[in-house]
Amino acid sequence: MPSPAPLIILGIESSCDETAAAVLVDGTVRSNVVASQEVHAKWGGVVPELASRAHQEHIVPVVREALAVAGITKEQLHGVAFTQGPGLIGALLVGSCFARSLAQALKIPLLAVDHIQAHVLAHLIRDGQDRPEPSFPFLNLTVSGGHSQLVHVRSPLDMQVLGATLDDAAGEAFDKGGKIMGLPYPAGPLVDKLARDGDPDRFVMPVPSIPGLDFSFSGIKTAFLSVVRKGEADNPAFATEHANDLCASLQRAIIDHLLAKTRRAMRDHDLRQVGIAGGVAANSGLRTRLIELGAREGWEVFVPPFAYCTDNAAMIAMAGHHLFLAGRHAPLDTVPVARFA
Ligand code: KG4
Ligand code: ZN
Repeated sequence: MPSPAPLIILGIESSCDETAAAVLVDGTVRSNVVASQEVHAKWGGVVPELASRAHQEHIVPVVREALAVAGITKEQLHGVAFTQGPGLIGALLVGSCFARSLAQALKIPLLAVDHIQAHVLAHLIRDGQDRPEPSFPFLNLTVSGGHSQLVHVRSPLDMQVLGATLDDAAGEAFDKGGKIMGLPYPAGPLVDKLARDGDPDRFVMPVPSIPGLDFSFSGIKTAFLSVVRKGEADNPAFATEHANDLCASLQRAIIDHLLAKTRRAMRDHDLRQVGIAGGVAANSGLRTRLIELGAREGWEVFVPPFAYCTDNAAMIAMAGHHLFLAGRHAPLDTVPVARFA
């Protein structure tokens, strides 16, 4: 019997400030193109209107490049996956209009992807590297600039959210903490870098006491603000002079909270495999400490490569791959949603 033709999916991501396109052939990455938007840095955060305009400029060249790098023509595609939400509505509209038009013109299925589920599916992306993959079920800690969730992953399309943030996302806690110190947006990667040479015990932050498996980062943020402002009252250069220790202490507090809840979820649900995903999964402190905790607890720990942690379209195409296989095609009039109910 001839083997079935490989499944070729184009993924398109435009939920926030990255315009991205990727081609997956049977779940293996052939291209993964990301155009980041620099226009937001000077505003200290993502400006929605500027993001929409930048997506409009980037979307055609980015998709073209993804196809060219993959060596795939658009006629060879079997499906077009796009981020339906959650995200900035104007930004999502650009990707969704493009994907809808392309699917209609090519007469191929449109696949509407939940961005947060796609972050989890980053674990299943293959790229020729020899990397172990989690089997089902596993727990995923999804931590990005917009979301913090503990997810019980039963299959690629069956996920249950066990806990979520009640206020800021973990990435926002990094970004806002960095902003308090005067670091540019997004501060997360800088905090990570500065924390490496700092003393995490130098400034003690409160441990949030939130019941169940939910998170809250507002207490840490307020305590951090107070440490910095008090220090600056005596010494205007306090944040710069103590940057390493401040970052290490902030990062320690955020990671302690994330890992305490992760440990509880693993125990409550009797799971042995845990993954992290989302932009904050790029944090070196979180990666190291999760691996150490996993070794103590006897868990298998899965951390996707950096390129699949921050926003990318390979994860969107991966979700599209599974939606395609499940026959879950979206109608051509599917609209984006800023947040799912
Ligand atoms: O997943 P992502 O690229 O976009 C969203 O869906 O939000 O995540 C972006 C977030 C930002 O808050 C950024 O500061 C944070 O991830 N981030 C980090 C690191 N790299 C990115 N936070 C801490 N340490 C890092 N190394
Ligand atoms: Zn994301």
